[in-house]
Amino acid sequence: MKIIIDTDPGQDDAMTILLALASPEIELLGVTTVAGNVPVAQTTENAIKALDLVGRSDIPVHAGAERPLLRPPVNATHVHGQTGFEGVDLPPPSRPATPGHAVDFIIDTVMAHPAGEITICTIGPMTNLALALAREPALRTRIGRIVAMAGAFSEVGNITPAAEFNVYVDPHAAQMVLASDIPIVMLPLDVTHQMHTSAARLARFRAMPNRVGPVIADWLTFEKKFEATKYGTDGGPLHDPNTVLWLLRPDLYRGRGVNVRIETDSPLTIGMTVTDWWQITDLPRNVLFIREAEVEALYDFMFERFSRL
Ligand code: BDR
Ligand code: CA
Repeated sequence: MKIIIDTDPGQDDAMTILLALASPEIELLGVTTVAGNVPVAQTTENAIKALDLVGRSDIPVHAGAERPLLRPPVNATHVHGQTGFEGVDLPPPSRPATPGHAVDFIIDTVMAHPAGEITICTIGPMTNLALALAREPALRTRIGRIVAMAGAFSEVGNITPAAEFNVYVDPHAAQMVLASDIPIVMLPLDVTHQMHTSAARLARFRAMPNRVGPVIADWLTFEKKFEATKYGTDGGPLHDPNTVLWLLRPDLYRGRGVNVRIETDSPLTIGMTVTDWWQITDLPRNVLFIREAEVEALYDFMFERFSRL
């Protein structure tokens, strides 16, 4: 599978990049960055630092949108720390961003491959993807699939009572992507809130006899400080790695095809993923919306993969 990861690292974003690199089924063509958890200059540095951890200076990292399409930027430093990467001190990035804007990279790469060949994993606000779709409408028939960590149904919201962070930050971009007719798989809070980073799981990461395991343990320990307290669980949620996990092990997830639209007007519920789970409308089923995960098996699978790095 050839993939591009569009991302705003973020500790869990970095884990997603590393999981892709640990998986021989996946060819990571490039990483594109966006403003989200922290500003784009920082998410770009963080993406490069994550690749540096495993010596992958061959993977291009293209910086993208500095702010959402219409709304003012919103960050998540209360979860991820000022740098977006708090929990461990990593060396400065080994290189600057690859020349060329993220949106150009997405368009050029997708158009240079046969239709349907490329999957985009989007694990931050969808600004880059929306801009790419606006600039090159042919992407609608060329992108094979979008796998997104985005949205929520029964878990409703984590940044407002009604909205999940990635969708809330750029709801207009998310709605453009959802209206694109590209096959979309959504891994929402319904799934990610089941994937607790429990003390036992963090201990397993920490005990890995490689560099990456203990770094992941430190990252997740920081990220869970806020989230575990908020939800009162043993560990916080694990969000973004579910996208790559779904690509590798769709048999460990369950969902259904439904219609999803984004609220873009109401000040109270902006960014809400209005999900027609019960098929109340006859609107097209534009999303495979995942709601269940075999959590233990997915963690076992991740431990095996990360131990290869
Ligand atoms: C999403 O928000 C970010 O803070 C995480 O990296 C994840 O992509 C979860 O709502
Ligand atoms: Ca993210």
